[in-house]
Amino acid sequence: MPCASRSDELVFFVNGRKVMERNVDPEGTLLTFLRKNWTLLSKSWLLRLTGTKYACGRGGCGACTVMVSKHDPVSRKIRHFSVTACLMPICSLHGAAVTTVEGVGSIKTRLPPVQERIAKSHGTQCGFCTPGMVMSMYTLLRNHPQPSEEQLMEALGSNLCRCTGYRPILESGRTFCMESNSCQQKGTGKCCLDWGENDSSPLGKKSEICTKLFAKEEFQSLDPTQELIFPPELLRMAENPEKRTLTFYGERGTWISPGTLKDLLELKVKHPKAPLVLGPAMKSQGHFHPVLLSPARISELSMVTKTSDGLTIGAGCSLAQMQDILAERIAELPEEKTQTYRALLKHLRSLAGQQIRNMASLGGHVISQHCCSDLNPVLAVSNATLNLISAEGTRQIPLNEHFLAGLASADLKPEEILESVHIPHSQKWEFVSAFRQAQCQQNALPHVNAGMRVLLKEGTDSIEDLSIAYGGVGAATISAHRSCQLLLGRRWNELMLDEACRLLLDEVSLPGSAPGGRVEFKRTLVVSFLFKFYLEVLQELKKLVKLFSVPVGALDSRHHSEVSDQFLSALEDFLVTIPQGVQTYQNVDPHQPLQDPVGRPIMHLSALKHATGEAMFCDDIPMVDKELFMALVTSSRAHAKIISIDVSKALELPEVVDVITAEDIPGTNGAEGDKLLAIDEVNCVGQIICAVVAETDVQAKRATEKIEITYEDLEPVIFTIKDAIKHNSFLCPEKKLEQGNVEEAFEKVDQILEEVHVGGQKHFYMETQRVLVIPKTEDKELDIYVSTQDPAHVQVSVFYFKHPHQQDHLSCKTSGWRFWREGRKTSCIRGDCSCGTGHPIRLVLDREDDMLITGGRHPVFGKYKVGFMNNGRIKALDIECYINGGCTLDDSELVTEFLILKLENAYKIRNLRFQGRACMTNLPSNTAFRGFGFPQGALVTESCITAVAAKCGLPPEKIREKNMYKTVDKTIYKQAFNPETLIRCWNECLDKSSFYSRRMHVEEFNKKNYWKKKGIAIIPMKFSVGFAATSYHQAAALVHIYTDGSVLVTHGGNELGQGIHTKMLQVASRELKIPMSCMHISETSTATVPNTIATAASISADVNGRAVQNACQILLKRLEPIIKKHPEGTWEDWIEAAFEQRISLSATGYFRNFLNQCAFLQGLGESGMFLGSSVFFAIADAVATVDIAEDFMVQSPATPERVRMACADRFTEMRPRELSMWIHTWQIPPAEGYSR
Ligand SMILES: Cc1cc2nc3c(=O)[nH]c(=O)nc-3n(C[C@H](O)[C@H](O)[C@H](O)COP(=O)(O)OP(=O)(O)OC[C@H]3O[C@@H](n4cnc5c(N)ncnc54)[C@H](O)[C@@H]3O)c2cc1C
Ligand code: FES
Ligand code: FES
Repeated sequence: MPCASRSDELVFFVNGRKVMERNVDPEGTLLTFLRKNWTLLSKSWLLRLTGTKYACGRGGCGACTVMVSKHDPVSRKIRHFSVTACLMPICSLHGAAVTTVEGVGSIKTRLPPVQERIAKSHGTQCGFCTPGMVMSMYTLLRNHPQPSEEQLMEALGSNLCRCTGYRPILESGRTFCMESNSCQQKGTGKCCLDWGENDSSPLGKKSEICTKLFAKEEFQSLDPTQELIFPPELLRMAENPEKRTLTFYGERGTWISPGTLKDLLELKVKHPKAPLVLGPAMKSQGHFHPVLLSPARISELSMVTKTSDGLTIGAGCSLAQMQDILAERIAELPEEKTQTYRALLKHLRSLAGQQIRNMASLGGHVISQHCCSDLNPVLAVSNATLNLISAEGTRQIPLNEHFLAGLASADLKPEEILESVHIPHSQKWEFVSAFRQAQCQQNALPHVNAGMRVLLKEGTDSIEDLSIAYGGVGAATISAHRSCQLLLGRRWNELMLDEACRLLLDEVSLPGSAPGGRVEFKRTLVVSFLFKFYLEVLQELKKLVKLFSVPVGALDSRHHSEVSDQFLSALEDFLVTIPQGVQTYQNVDPHQPLQDPVGRPIMHLSALKHATGEAMFCDDIPMVDKELFMALVTSSRAHAKIISIDVSKALELPEVVDVITAEDIPGTNGAEGDKLLAIDEVNCVGQIICAVVAETDVQAKRATEKIEITYEDLEPVIFTIKDAIKHNSFLCPEKKLEQGNVEEAFEKVDQILEEVHVGGQKHFYMETQRVLVIPKTEDKELDIYVSTQDPAHVQVSVFYFKHPHQQDHLSCKTSGWRFWREGRKTSCIRGDCSCGTGHPIRLVLDREDDMLITGGRHPVFGKYKVGFMNNGRIKALDIECYINGGCTLDDSELVTEFLILKLENAYKIRNLRFQGRACMTNLPSNTAFRGFGFPQGALVTESCITAVAAKCGLPPEKIREKNMYKTVDKTIYKQAFNPETLIRCWNECLDKSSFYSRRMHVEEFNKKNYWKKKGIAIIPMKFSVGFAATSYHQAAALVHIYTDGSVLVTHGGNELGQGIHTKMLQVASRELKIPMSCMHISETSTATVPNTIATAASISADVNGRAVQNACQILLKRLEPIIKKHPEGTWEDWIEAAFEQRISLSATGYFRNFLNQCAFLQGLGESGMFLGSSVFFAIADAVATVDIAEDFMVQSPATPERVRMACADRFTEMRPRELSMWIHTWQIPPAEGYSR
């Protein structure tokens, strides 16, 4: 426990209420404080604010976004900024006001526009990300009540959503924006919704198709005067700042916050090793420091000075403040002086997300000297200097490569701190640029970045000074000093460029073992960035020649003319703009009664609760009496024998209650080959070995480190599919489907093509695995709260695992978009533990453990042989697929079956042979994942079609059309299939998207642009829904009508965000003919609806809907005599009468016999997953327009690296061939291996 007796009082406000806390843990974050703090702060107010969510704990997802307001001592204004609470040290909040989603509004009191609009715009599904989205938007609106679309994009840039898709979320934010662009659907500047009288809308007849999902006019308007004000008490504190040093003592560490610079410098002498903590870096790195110094209250570190030769920015300024300062300076100064500021600003826009930029300090950024720093390369080339201060005095050091490499002679002394950074102005004939390539534009660390500066001799193109620095290519920012020196005096032309590329590749050497890998890609970027800089400077030179009438001879005019217009697209940056899109849906029949909600766009039932943070997820359930916490111990070896497990040191810790190993399991420890807790052997890193139960989550986690496990490594260790094939390591027998005569057909075709395709995908659900198990003393019952989509399966697993003859009741809380069965193991272990200790047990996996323990979508290795005629007609197809199943069977057999069943996709090919095998490897078990093998398999098929198109010299859509089902026929799995809907969908899609005119535009664009290419693709999809086992096609529901007329509906489907509860009430409302507002839905529970079927296979709404319908019809039948007798009566009258007449007002509905049907278009669900493949094939289409590097092909996922390396040009050719040979020897291909 933190030492409250000696600690100072931490004072801050949360949602307008004062928090005075002596008991803070210096290691704690704001997120833990908000979610876990149970202190009664005033008579009626508990802090426990669970609206702010934990998802990644690393500042990467935005789920924990809150607004912090502080008084800025320099500008004397209140600053409102968004932060990620998971990285915000709690002690840094002294004097701040925090606003969480609960403070913005509530459905019980006031629902402000930002929450109302995201809900009504259909911007939430599971709702786990929604509070974070709301808080990012709310902070934006506090600062800019009418933001621009760019500001909106920037504010939401680091908020992840895993289910809604960003369009509706952005749509809700857009309702606050100044301007609203048309959708540009036709590429004509005209919105597809603005059709004139004589236009034929591509969206169909207006009366049938609706494009308006919400009525903007109904929204409340934004009234900034209604918002919480900055607490006057904090304002007084800020205006008369206390100069006393504040100290907060914790169990292990101490946080010291001096009030003056002098005290800070003295403390630095006393604690030379103590880091200065301003931003999120300390928390994100997770290192322990016994003493932390906080310079947050030292105003000298936030000073900004404009001088005649440059700008001096205080080290304590946040990166967001730096953004504002630079923008202001750029507006004030002539362009030639602001080259460096522009380059820095460009990087600041894409560096991390806005929340991190609001927290991270310039000083922390520079001093961290991290190898991927975006700012340091630019600061280094532009001759920035560091102003240092210590108790001894001040001094300046250059921010150069020696400092960045951490050389002691060029670095800070332990007792020194960085006071400010001086960035000089640029001058005429000087050009500075910044380059960056990351996995995505926003919120991603760069693979490589660079800062480049050249000073040309006045009036010439002769190089007077040149500096180039790269990040991401070594352990520190690297300067290409030697190359730059050798290029001095050279003219800025193609010859110089060639020489510079050669020199740079030599100097910036990247060994095969370079951190982060991707060596060939990085080498290509090193020279590609230089090429861009070369072009940029040439363009600027051209302008200068015009402006200053420079004598022609002074510039090497021969080479300027070579920069053709075709090349200029290399200079255009990709802008982050609001994605343009429009959602349409079919209007209901005009005769449908108004109160019947079926087919209408009804807001998600929980949307308002999601938006206010009031929706209850598993870990939001309040702490129960005597609750304990669990943490898991997992294998650190991929394949090993367990020699011993020593738990004694963990058990010695007073706060540890128990350690559970396989020996403690009273029932069955899982199936053979799939043990819940490992016994003698481990088969992957991350396999669960034992579990620690302690009084708090932190204590349980720390105690896991005390458990000593001795292993003996075993052979073989298999990671890849190729290795598994080599070792004949498979999980189940081969699955095979065949029709026609494949061999014979291959003999009659014009051409045969044989290729290989690999693909894979990782999970990143927002809500990590979490379970709460509460034992009931009477009748040995267990209440289990778990986020799963298969409660019955978890219930059965727990039953076998623990003491026999116990009752378990599973309640499923709203789930933060979960996939399949992963809650099973963790629930079982907790189930047993609760029985053993008699205590309620809670387990919340942190993101690292969750990623380590759980598998992902099966990567596939697909080999195809296709025989086709020259006109593109495919006569024979033979596909062999191997999936990487990981170390246990799990659902791999089922996935293999689904994969080969669906391989034919939408094509009728007479001669087919599909084979599939699940490989056993030493990776965590991969599991069924949206689409059950269909996306991976269909990607192989569609890649094959694309390859046939290329061979035939025809567009891929023509080959697709030619081979598609045309008439009623039997599928490979012998089901009669009528392709009418398929063909209609295909034609409508071509028509509505104006596909062919877009294809023409794409071709024209590609002709005109050498460095930028566009692609377009249309992919058909035939997806059969339902499970293979017919026993899974059943569902039940329970409907109660209460005497006041209200209705309670329960069913067997799980709400994962897809809106199943909403749909069930729509059905009940139609059947009972009463409004949805009179109805309530109860959480899914095995106590009310037993033997539920997993919510999967795209049929849950259908089968559960039928069960609800059945229950409602039974009830209505019972009410029929009363209604007939009193047709003029109200619903309440009839229910009252029914009760009087002793008619049961509760009914169970049941449905079975769902027949496999084919769904061709589904926005959500399993099939929708594959719709994204059109983007992949559009990228492949774009790549196909350039020279493709001979040893590369575009593979899934089409990462920037793969796309770049697939396109051969003079820069990819510069990579040394000998490197590629041995780089691959230790790398596991990303699609197969898991670098966790
Ligand atoms: C989620 C996330 C994403 C990120 N993405 C990017 C990215 O894309 N690109 C990028 O370039 N960076 C990125 N960063 C890093 C970020 O830009 C900062 O560099 C980083 O957070 C360090 O700044 P800080 O204020 O958090 O440092 P702190 O934690 O405050 O300090 C870091 C170190 O600097 C020392 N220090 C701090 N101030 C001083 C001072 N005045 N004098 C002496 N020593 C001092 C401290 O003692 C400590 O050792 C990311 C960070 C996070 C958390
Ligand atoms: S950013 Fe804090 S939980 Fe993800
Ligand atoms: S609604 Fe965004 S993660 Fe589910």
